[in-house]
Amino acid sequence: MNEFWIAPSILSADFARLGEEVDNALKSGADIVHFDVMDNHYVPNLTIGPLVCEALRKYGVTAPIDVHLMVKPVDRIIPDFAKAGASYITFHPEASEHVDRSLQLIKDNGCKAGLVFNPATPLNHLDHVMDKLDMILLMSVNPGFGGQSFIPYVLDKLREVQKRIAASGRNIRLEIDGGVNPKNIREIAAAGADTFVAGSALFGAGKPEDPNRYDSIVGSLREELAKSRA
Ligand code: DX5
Ligand code: ZN
Repeated sequence: MNEFWIAPSILSADFARLGEEVDNALKSGADIVHFDVMDNHYVPNLTIGPLVCEALRKYGVTAPIDVHLMVKPVDRIIPDFAKAGASYITFHPEASEHVDRSLQLIKDNGCKAGLVFNPATPLNHLDHVMDKLDMILLMSVNPGFGGQSFIPYVLDKLREVQKRIAASGRNIRLEIDGGVNPKNIREIAAAGADTFVAGSALFGAGKPEDPNRYDSIVGSLREELAKSRA
């Protein structure tokens, strides 16, 4: 069973103080930096690219960076993110004409690869590529914005993907993204997720001047996670 990872989504961080924000979240016990890339084409919002990923590495962030591509197409930008220090690169299968090639490209560039499924995207894209995956990310909101509510039917999808991972016999992380908070994280973990993106719940916590302001939210997420395996 994989160890639980908490993945702060920097989409909800204060971009003017991004390095500090990421440090504070990691200091509070978060495990992996979730990096949301949006192109105002695949999703109706525009965020950050490889330069910002590289800037975080130069600033001194050593934790894994989990790049979630919400862009179309994906192949052109993959090597740039690998060079910029990405650890995981995940993309939406419907945003690539050649899913197998894009997965291979991520691996050839030395990163771990994953596929992302929108709430209503069917799982059949997994059928032939399980042996190429290090991560499967299920969206529990429609991608594009932080602060939306968790869509409950994704719990069934998590259970289904967990079965597929178990049947594959491979160590593939199962990540959930959207609307995760201390009230629902236990149920989400029970459905099979081991990696939990938290954007607004985490970066919205505490007072901006307090460097320890994420301790209590990360602590509550962890407490709830511990109960799910008690
Ligand atoms: C949405 C992004 C998420 C988002 C999650 O498209 O992929 O990572 O930041 O934010 P919350 O946790 O606020 O739902
Ligand atoms: Zn994301």
